[in-house]
Amino acid sequence: MQKEDFKRFVRFEDNTKLPIYNWFYYKEGFSKNLVEWGLKNFYSGGRVVDPFCGVGTTLLVCKERGIDSLGMDVLPIAVFSSRVKTRNYNIGKLKNKLEEIKKTKPEEIKKPRADWLRKVFYSRTLNDLCFYKKLLEEEKDEKVRDFFILALIKATGIVARVKKVGGSLRRVSKPKMPVRKIFLQKAAKMIKDLEKTRGNFSSKEPTTIQKDARKIGEFLEKEGFSLAVFSPPYLNKIEYTKVYKLENFLFFGKQETKIRSYLGEEPRQVVELEGVLEKYNKEAEIVKAYLKDINIFFGGLYKVLEKKGKAVCVVGGGCLPNKPFNVDCIFEEIARKNGFSVLKNIAARTILCHRDRTRKLGRVRENILVFEK
Ligand SMILES: C[S@@+](CC[C@H](N)C(=O)[O-])C[C@H]1O[C@@H](n2cnc3c(N)ncnc32)[C@H](O)[C@@H]1O
Repeated sequence: MQKEDFKRFVRFEDNTKLPIYNWFYYKEGFSKNLVEWGLKNFYSGGRVVDPFCGVGTTLLVCKERGIDSLGMDVLPIAVFSSRVKTRNYNIGKLKNKLEEIKKTKPEEIKKPRADWLRKVFYSRTLNDLCFYKKLLEEEKDEKVRDFFILALIKATGIVARVKKVGGSLRRVSKPKMPVRKIFLQKAAKMIKDLEKTRGNFSSKEPTTIQKDARKIGEFLEKEGFSLAVFSPPYLNKIEYTKVYKLENFLFFGKQETKIRSYLGEEPRQVVELEGVLEKYNKEAEIVKAYLKDINIFFGGLYKVLEKKGKAVCVVGGGCLPNKPFNVDCIFEEIARKNGFSVLKNIAARTILCHRDRTRKLGRVRENILVFEK
């Protein structure tokens, strides 16, 4: 048997070569192989949940295998792309819509007036994006509409004069690019993907909801799932609202917030946790806030998993201003405290932490943990 390449499991890169899996590039995502490994080793029937579903890789693998699944995320673009990637489509309808769009040429339209948008797009580019967005909003068939909106979001990423770097957007210089051509190409490629994979996916459509995973125990059915596959936000790592500001602003009408990560958003209101958090009192407040949220989440997860249910969790340590901070062993402690036993802790790779982008502070681990209820 081939040895598992855990290093690749925790990265999105392998998904970029797979039709549909690659419809929205998510740097923070894991690969299809991780989910398949989880199913092969820890699944024996029942429903699967991904409480931090990102762009829906867990859900898509489940659809491929004919397994019922549910995913949630707080980020609108993540929920949206998960949904679009996991729906059943009438390809004929999509082709008709594509032909209809081809006949339309962008006209002058009222654009949003935010100053920062003017730095990101040439005026004509922003106009054409807004034109197509408005055109698509008139489409009554939700599946058709959302499908093309995702294609337009993909085109937006290409024509925008910014690049996602680490936890923020960085300006880059780019020539003016034709929105119409790129949008139509993306949509045509997505339709081709559906044709290419016809018959590979079951007709099971996963449920995808926009919810806070910390409250999972309150709104999901108790003992309703036999396996959870997920990767929570990493400590002090990505401010999702900032990295996906463009998509959120243009397509979901959500403003950027100051929240660093949806987990650990209230660093000053830390409630100490008996036996687990006291040891980390000396660490930054953000660590305590983060771990507090992870603890709440594990409490909820325990409720929604069946007896003997398993959880496959990918998590990485964080780079604090003065040092790297590993969390896998603390996750083990928190999981145990909530009633789980730990089946595996696999170090998948390490990542270098820098201070001021240049000084090396050391490395943090990224691990695959497996728990059992
Ligand atoms: C590491 S990413 C997971 C990526 C996903 N495994 C994939 O492959 O696409 C963490 C995700 O958690 C989401 N998130 C952050 N806080 C959350 C919360 N409180 N509840 C649910 N989702 C949350 C983020 O928006 C992000 O999509």
